[in-house]
Amino acid sequence: MLNVKISNLNLKSPLILASGVLGVSFHTMERVINAGAGAVTTKSIGPKPRKGYKNPSVIELYSGTFLNSVGLANPGVDQFCKELKKLHKSKFPLIASIFGDIEETYCKIAIKMEEIGCAAVELNISCPHAEVSSIGISSDLTYSLVKKIKSEISIPIFVKLNPNVTDIIEIALAAEKAGADAVVAINTVAAMVIDINTKRPILSHGSGGLSGKAIHPIAIKKVYDLYEALKIPIIGCGGVFDYKDVIEFFLAGASSVQIGTALYQGIEIITKIKNDLETYLRGNDYHSIMDIKGLAHEYKTQEVPDY
Ligand SMILES: Cc1cc2nc3c(=O)[nH]c(=O)nc-3n(C[C@H](O)[C@H](O)[C@H](O)COP(=O)(O)O)c2cc1C
Repeated sequence: MLNVKISNLNLKSPLILASGVLGVSFHTMERVINAGAGAVTTKSIGPKPRKGYKNPSVIELYSGTFLNSVGLANPGVDQFCKELKKLHKSKFPLIASIFGDIEETYCKIAIKMEEIGCAAVELNISCPHAEVSSIGISSDLTYSLVKKIKSEISIPIFVKLNPNVTDIIEIALAAEKAGADAVVAINTVAAMVIDINTKRPILSHGSGGLSGKAIHPIAIKKVYDLYEALKIPIIGCGGVFDYKDVIEFFLAGASSVQIGTALYQGIEIITKIKNDLETYLRGNDYHSIMDIKGLAHEYKTQEVPDY
């Protein structure tokens, strides 16, 4: 009932751990799968260890809405691969989120991830508070990067889209044309908060990326628009807190969803969402969650207002 297929990945559940919100330990990833996720995405892994920005780097702005500028802190690809040697014995699909400075760096990391047994790579070209965002705002750079990596690896390539662009469709189409197997929509929304007493931005880096409840309707709109333009699957991401958020993403056209911020409430939230999804589908006589994919597009929206 909850099985989905993204490219050649058969997932037992449409719920995927989003990149960056949990650690990179194999044990944590296994726990997420046991809670009911169909796949896990790693924290974005770069060429070498990186500490990231100083604290404060993550703050809760409103209930369920966070602002972060972690700055792609990660152990680096070599250390990460050591941790993931255990992967060979595991049965779950691991999606390696990767970033680099230039195309060659992305390629080297992508090849290593394929070698250690990752099921797919997700290209982070969209972090709003790190250098990589410059790729994700250009359709030419996106096309070139995806095309190059596609020629080097045979596992599926997902492209994580940046919502902080004028035309997300243009970037997504460039990724699709270059051979991307799916897109993930969306990464965090560029944002800032300023302390009125110190009169300074609160995050050490100044600006950051907004995630959680506040960005859910933004993500829905992006997925809805992308569905009208793309042939490849869309993985919805942004503010999934319960089964209704997942259903909404599917109605907009998503083929699976990622969950990030909501996990601050505990990994068990995945089990609850999964159970509630099954209850919803059964109660509405659907055999598969894929039966509801894109249904919102059947509704003819009003184009011109009445006078
Ligand atoms: C603390 C934190 C760290 C994140 N780190 C990454 C990262 O390393 N790579 C990435 O592609 N996205 C990263 N993200 C973005 C999430 O994967 C996701 O796209 C975003 O938070 C929206 O989903 P959510 O509302 O479910 O959290 C991070 C988000 C948060 C809150």
